[in-house]
Amino acid sequence: MTDRPRNLFTDPPSLPLVAPSILSADFANLAADCKQVLDVAGADLLHVDVMDGHFVPNLTIGPVVVEWLRSALPEAFLDVHVMVTDPIQYVKPFAKAGANHLTFHAEPALDPLAGAGMSPLSGGGGAGYDPLEVCEAVHAAGMTAGLAINPGTTAEVIIQEGWVEPFELILIMSVWPGFGGQAFIPEVLAAARIIKAHLCPDQRLQMDGGLSPETAPQARLAGVDVLVAGSAVFGVDRAQRGAAIAAIRGV
Ligand code: DX5
Ligand code: ZN
Repeated sequence: MTDRPRNLFTDPPSLPLVAPSILSADFANLAADCKQVLDVAGADLLHVDVMDGHFVPNLTIGPVVVEWLRSALPEAFLDVHVMVTDPIQYVKPFAKAGANHLTFHAEPALDPLAGAGMSPLSGGGGAGYDPLEVCEAVHAAGMTAGLAINPGTTAEVIIQEGWVEPFELILIMSVWPGFGGQAFIPEVLAAARIIKAHLCPDQRLQMDGGLSPETAPQARLAGVDVLVAGSAVFGVDRAQRGAAIAAIRGV
């Protein structure tokens, strides 16, 4: 068993943390836009959404973008969220590219035909895998590991499977994954409260999707301590981003 890596997620200087999702950033000026949210607007880390067009009906970026972000922002904490049917193949490439953390989804492990936004008939579906094996591979690659659940997956399922304790972070999706700018799904707050009760002090509870100054307070009340926000941060004028991040952080 690999020792669990320690980083911003296991030893945060303060909580909650705000993690702008680069999916909503200006990709024609990505490094500059990311530098602005970190150095000027006060974000704590960057959330990097990786989609394979199979588990979710969208295709985004790969390790090469993380590699360039790492070279442009050597100090940035890069939280990679992979929405893919077969995460094991991406663990080493993202670690090599410079990712600090990697979160993958429980659904393809629960139902190999599961595609977050795709019907089984569309061929959406993964190879099926054991999340504990993927978690071990993430740790062996030097990254902290996260497990994500979609709005349709209950907290009880991952608790009963023993898929909470091994991870440094549990991500409760508050939208169906695939796109930025979607509406917050408040029904997932119940899952957040249940999972929170099962976490140790060095484990994080992350929420992702539709978070803004308006929706963040209820997420924080449910125990969420890493708040991902894409459109609410990158989607506003640079001059307003600091206020948006402060409002999402709540302090
Ligand atoms: C959705 C992604 C989210 C998304 C968040 O599949 O995992 O990180 O980019 O964007 P907003 O905050 O605009 O919902
Ligand atoms: Zn995400």
